[in-house]
Amino acid sequence: MVSKLYYKNKFIIKLIKPIENKRLFTALKLNILTVKDYQLWPKKLIALDAFCQTGLQWTRVFSKEAEYLEMWDINTDAIKFAKKEFPKANVNCGDSIDAIMNGKLHRKDFNFVLIDSPVPFMYPDGSFEHFKFFDSIFKNIADEAVIMMDVVPNIQTMLDIHPHPKEFNDKWINARANFYGVKDAACVLPQVMTEIYKSKVEALGFKVKLVTYNARNAHFGILTIAVSKN
Ligand SMILES: C[S@@+](CC[C@H](N)C(=O)[O-])C[C@H]1O[C@@H](n2cnc3c(N)ncnc32)[C@H](O)[C@@H]1O
Repeated sequence: MVSKLYYKNKFIIKLIKPIENKRLFTALKLNILTVKDYQLWPKKLIALDAFCQTGLQWTRVFSKEAEYLEMWDINTDAIKFAKKEFPKANVNCGDSIDAIMNGKLHRKDFNFVLIDSPVPFMYPDGSFEHFKFFDSIFKNIADEAVIMMDVVPNIQTMLDIHPHPKEFNDKWINARANFYGVKDAACVLPQVMTEIYKSKVEALGFKVKLVTYNARNAHFGILTIAVSKN
């Protein structure tokens, strides 16, 4: 399964190489360029990619800029390929949520954190998206940092292409209601979401320099937050 994805990505990269970054931006690249235009992109990049898989989709977009790159994935096959593709990175096979929450990352001064967590997906402990460990991310960052995460404004558009049983959907909506503190948690529009994240980050003692949302495809998007310590 992962190896099929790896070779597919290798093939795609070869195909798009001549136009990539000239006429073709990935959603992640667009977000990074936006942060650069705001002059909020770190000069010496200390990066954590907490759900890297093989790294051929997202990690490779910024890996060359990183002075230090730490990668995590729980899937042993994915990590085999990630180690091969990113020989200079600190590549770890394991539970990055546990590492983020319990001080097991190799550094605590990350200035770029990428959270491409699986969706739609329920973790074995019944949690969803980044809800359980969102606050803990901020225990692992430098005084100035950029965090990019997958967010899902409207779960129905995603469930239309990845149908799940009603019980799963109800649990997901409930988890979203708890995290976002809204009534209609199946659909949380980006303009509402950005305000909620801003409040959460400020409550953790950080100043929000930028919070922005961009779609990554028709089903979900990337939320970018640039923060500094108060
Ligand atoms: C959406 S994919 C990431 C794709 C990747 N960012 C890329 O660019 O190819 C989600 C990944 O999260 C991993 N994952 C799921 N639970 C995890 C956990 N607790 N700790 C670390 N990785 C986990 C899965 O194995 C999967 O590879």
